[in-house]
Amino acid sequence: MDFKIEGPLFQQSPVCVPILRSLPDWFGIEAAILEYEREIEHLPTFLANEDGSVLGFLSLKQHNPFSAEIYVMAVQLQAHRGGIGRALVAAADFYARNLGIEYMQVKTLAASRPNEEYARTRAFYEALGFRPLEAFSRIWDENNPCLVMVKRL
Ligand SMILES: CC(C)(COP(=O)(O)OP(=O)(O)OC[C@H]1O[C@@H](n2cnc3c(N)ncnc32)[C@H](O)[C@@H]1OP(=O)(O)O)[C@@H](O)C(=O)NCCC(=O)NCCS
Repeated sequence: MDFKIEGPLFQQSPVCVPILRSLPDWFGIEAAILEYEREIEHLPTFLANEDGSVLGFLSLKQHNPFSAEIYVMAVQLQAHRGGIGRALVAAADFYARNLGIEYMQVKTLAASRPNEEYARTRAFYEALGFRPLEAFSRIWDENNPCLVMVKRL
């Protein structure tokens, strides 16, 4: 695939939210999409751009001088498994490392709720060096147990 990574950019909700809406198997809760929309607006965001069309994005949230979080990322379904996710995470890692950040975390659906789509998401993060740290039942809600994964940059 012939894409370029751009960023960090700000105020990217208008290009990112349609990608979330195109992936209802992962992003099916309207209230969550609206919260992503508000947050992405002011978070540093990396885009994967192919001939002017955005195929994927990653928004980063810095929590303190030592740690940052992949707040949300998504790649259009037809482009999955083409290396875009890996390239977006590499760009975010590089940016974070240059800020002196030591740990990158990501929150995703825990395996205690069986879900084929999120099993693929966890496999992606594991392939990129993230390791499961702890699962929490109350960060989101009881139907959506949250797994925190972490990587040393
Ligand atoms: C998760 C996601 C961002 C990954 O992006 P992607 O561009 O498809 O991933 P890549 O092609 O860069 O994959 C990198 C590596 O991750 C692993 N991986 C990716 N998808 C995988 C899958 N379905 N099963 C197993 N391993 C997988 C592989 O090791 C892959 O390397 P390889 O293709 O050379 O073997 C993308 O699939 C996506 O948008 N999913 C839906 C939304 C989502 O889950 N967002 C995160 C919410 S927390």
